[in-house]
Amino acid sequence: MSRIHEALKKAEQERAATQAMAVPPPMAAMPMSEQPVFADTPPVPAMPASMGLGMPTFGGGLNMDTLLARCPRTEWTPDPGSMLFMNGDDHARGTEEFRTLRSRLYHLREKMTLRTVLVTSALPKEGKSFTSANLAQVLVRQHGRRVLLIDADLRGPRLHLMLGTPMGPGLSDYLQSKNDEFSIIQQGPMENLFFMPSGSGIEDPSELIANGRLKMLLQRLEPLFDWIIVDSPPAIPVSDASVLAKACDGVLMVVRSNATPSDAARRARQEFPENALVGFVLNGTSEENAPYARYYYEAYENKGTATKA
Ligand SMILES: Nc1ncnc2c1ncn2[C@@H]1O[C@H](COP(=O)(O)OP(=O)(O)OP(=O)(O)O)[C@@H](O)[C@H]1O
Ligand SMILES: [Mg+2]
Repeated sequence: MSRIHEALKKAEQERAATQAMAVPPPMAAMPMSEQPVFADTPPVPAMPASMGLGMPTFGGGLNMDTLLARCPRTEWTPDPGSMLFMNGDDHARGTEEFRTLRSRLYHLREKMTLRTVLVTSALPKEGKSFTSANLAQVLVRQHGRRVLLIDADLRGPRLHLMLGTPMGPGLSDYLQSKNDEFSIIQQGPMENLFFMPSGSGIEDPSELIANGRLKMLLQRLEPLFDWIIVDSPPAIPVSDASVLAKACDGVLMVVRSNATPSDAARRARQEFPENALVGFVLNGTSEENAPYARYYYEAYENKGTATKA
């Protein structure tokens, strides 16, 4: 076993122990008024943001900081129209709904393994990338939480444009064995938010996504992050999302208000095993329909059995 692999394994064990302590109280036990305000959740007691300094090393001297220090630092110029949490206004329209979504995901996490979340939708332009990017940002705003955002839409990558950062090297380069995992992960200006772009354009995304290396990649990276958010292509036109879902713990389905035809939403849902779906995000609701919210999230409360294939 390589030193890196040993270190990752050990990190996973340590992180699992930490996570058990970090889980917030059940939402049902919280007063309604507090439910969406997950930002007040106590910080993680161990595994703080700067994990390396002062922490014991493992795996032959490699610790998480040492591993992640290999990730290149890049300058990001985020698109202020899409990146709700990067413009300095914590109360911008939509931010509260993402806090609620975060809260629901933590609630689900009490019942199931949920660290790697695939974000998909039936059709193009329904807000998958928007949801992925803002979800990653709201997750990382909690002290000590480390998040990796992956652009796994190899056909129409958008996240690098939303973040204003280079498109490569990235996932496709790793899948073609051109790069290792750390050289394709960027560190930007937001502490603890890491980004893996899609990488250079390729001819056959389906083949690459299905070649088995993606699952291996996620398994290797999981110990290093509290959450991994994976943006995907639409589920109906191409099979990538259903292949990606097999390597993830759960699937979040975005539905665009007044746009996604109901039969398309139903068909997309059928692309995934029932127990893989962890919820829906209704994106772009008008203020008339939802005066206080632009997104609506419905979780499957009785889930808890999603497993990776
Ligand atoms: N709720 C929203 N508020 C503001 N802008 C939004 C919202 N949802 C989506 N957008 C914008 O709409 C455009 C399309 O959204 P996005 O790229 O997230 O869709 P997508 O489902 O990822 O599309 P594709 O299938 O092409 O990958 C983007 O410019 C995005 O910033
Ligand atoms: Mg997209």
